[in-house]
Amino acid sequence: MRYGYGYFEEDRLGEVADLRLWQRIMAYVVPYWQGMALAVFLSFGVIGASLLLPYLVRIGVDDYITNATIPVTARISGLTTLAAIFGIAVLAGFAANYFQVTVLEWTGQNTMHRLRQHIYKHMLGLDLAYFNANPSGKLVTRLTNDVQNMHEMFTSVIVTLFNDAIRVIGILGLLYWLNWRLALLMSLLLPVILVVTLLFSRLARDVFRDIRTKLAKINAYLQEAVSGISLIQLFQREEVVGRNFAALNGSYLEAALRQIRIFGIFLPLLDVLSSAATAIIIGYGGLLVLRGEMTIGILVAFLSYMRLFFQPLRELSQKYSIVQSAMASAERIFQLLDTESSLALAPKPLAPGAIKGTLEFCGVDFGYDPGKPVIRDLSLRVAPGETVAIVGATGAGKSTLVNLLERMYDPNRGRILLDGLDLRDLDPTWLRRKIGLVMQEIYLVPGTIRENILLGTVMDEADLGAIVERAQLADLVGRLPQGVDTRIGEGSLDLSAGQRQLLALARVMVRDPEILVLDEATANIDSETEILVERAIEATLSQRTSIVIAHRLSTIQRADRIVVMDVGRIVEEGSHEMLMAAKGFYHRLQNLQYLQWNGS
Ligand SMILES: Nc1ncnc2c1ncn2[C@@H]1O[C@H](COP(=O)(O)OP(=O)(O)O)[C@@H](O)[C@H]1O
Ligand SMILES: [Mg+2]
Repeated sequence: MRYGYGYFEEDRLGEVADLRLWQRIMAYVVPYWQGMALAVFLSFGVIGASLLLPYLVRIGVDDYITNATIPVTARISGLTTLAAIFGIAVLAGFAANYFQVTVLEWTGQNTMHRLRQHIYKHMLGLDLAYFNANPSGKLVTRLTNDVQNMHEMFTSVIVTLFNDAIRVIGILGLLYWLNWRLALLMSLLLPVILVVTLLFSRLARDVFRDIRTKLAKINAYLQEAVSGISLIQLFQREEVVGRNFAALNGSYLEAALRQIRIFGIFLPLLDVLSSAATAIIIGYGGLLVLRGEMTIGILVAFLSYMRLFFQPLRELSQKYSIVQSAMASAERIFQLLDTESSLALAPKPLAPGAIKGTLEFCGVDFGYDPGKPVIRDLSLRVAPGETVAIVGATGAGKSTLVNLLERMYDPNRGRILLDGLDLRDLDPTWLRRKIGLVMQEIYLVPGTIRENILLGTVMDEADLGAIVERAQLADLVGRLPQGVDTRIGEGSLDLSAGQRQLLALARVMVRDPEILVLDEATANIDSETEILVERAIEATLSQRTSIVIAHRLSTIQRADRIVVMDVGRIVEEGSHEMLMAAKGFYHRLQNLQYLQWNGS
């Protein structure tokens, strides 16, 4: 298998250098650098205001509250002024904070919007093999959860970290300026704080990673179990599956508990350190005050700054988890963005104006899994205007031929030519317009019958009416009160298998492709609709190069040539009469089919 499932990716988390990851993340922010710059600039306002407050308290205590040298009225008016300044500082800090949050949200949302567009466009360009290998739930997660995780990091971590750094440096500077001796003594605690924080970061990172990996395993396992629930119930696998799940669930619990133990030590340890700092301030600072070497105001300011100093450390753990999950998401997103379509686009894709419609398979080998060939050395030429019916047992590789023709996959060996041009040299979009396809399974888009037929093509009412007529849908549409504007699909009017086929044929008629590929549905259709389907197929096939994977005898007999396939090879070719007379594969298939038809 070329593409892995979720948890294998998770196991590899962290192998990619974090620095490179950051560079790529930042590349998405660059177009909005003004926002980032403004947010950083506003940090100075936010931090400046918050650091000013304890200093104002110091002035209040020293110059007015404890200052007996000036008259009481002057002290009161001084305090009033100070209170006003305090209020203004609070408001300024609030305003700076408000703008910072707004600007950050703007930047974050725009960045994520851009990233989502990028992922979505990239995803649409990937080949079917990728979608076969990756469950759709997983791909949806890339666009929703993973992008959201990164957004959270942008808004609540990156600038906050910057804020915190400025704050911590600012506080240290202020403390030294206020009283260098007390600050120096307190600085003895710094190495301890540093070691504890670093140690914690290391432990937290490992345990977070472990938790995420285990959670991803649970998710992947559940996804498999839920999608295969009928199998599990039919084969009484509940107990085994339950045991496996219990093991995964148990190891997740263990990791979660380990995380709690780590946090359970770190946060109280920070409390101890902050109490030690308080003790130093009260003890040594108090001594300095008593000796008259420091004012009470400075002592009070020290206590306030101390609290501000420990606050970011306390929030570190929470930010850690955000950054961790964001980095994991980023890694998965970039992994998706780095996945190239295995269908290489020609440097100058061709889109010829007119085509004759000759199709040719030349010695084609193909396997979805290169080790398991599905088409073996197949050669087939279809002349312009010719109708070739392909018949064969289920699994013979008939639908695979269609996938190759529409260039959903490329052959492993050999070439497929349209008018002598290799499909690999053609523009895939152009190719898919030229080769119309009616698939075995027909998807209805939630919407009206009109929308489902046109699929975005613009067409006037008369032409649409003619197509509805030719596709034998007129009866059905006529019976509906809202006609072609009746809603169908999920939750609305449901169409029978036969009616869906008529609709699919109408879709092809709208596009009027030069070549038609029809993968006939095998579903049972009531005999009344069957007649309609036969007529619609006849109308669609006429005068086009057509390849029909046929199950109906009527369709087979209408073909110019019948090609019989078995395990990826062409084993017989000829007209119905010829092949019946030969009493080979075709003869056997027909007999089997007749038995089935008579029995149902
Ligand atoms: N998307 C796929 N991935 C892997 N194997 C596939 C895929 N589609 C079909 N196959 C396998 O390829 C073989 C041929 O399938 P298909 O072309 O659908 O046969 P037919 O249309 O003749 O019934 C089968 O063995 C089938 O299991
Ligand atoms: Mg098939």
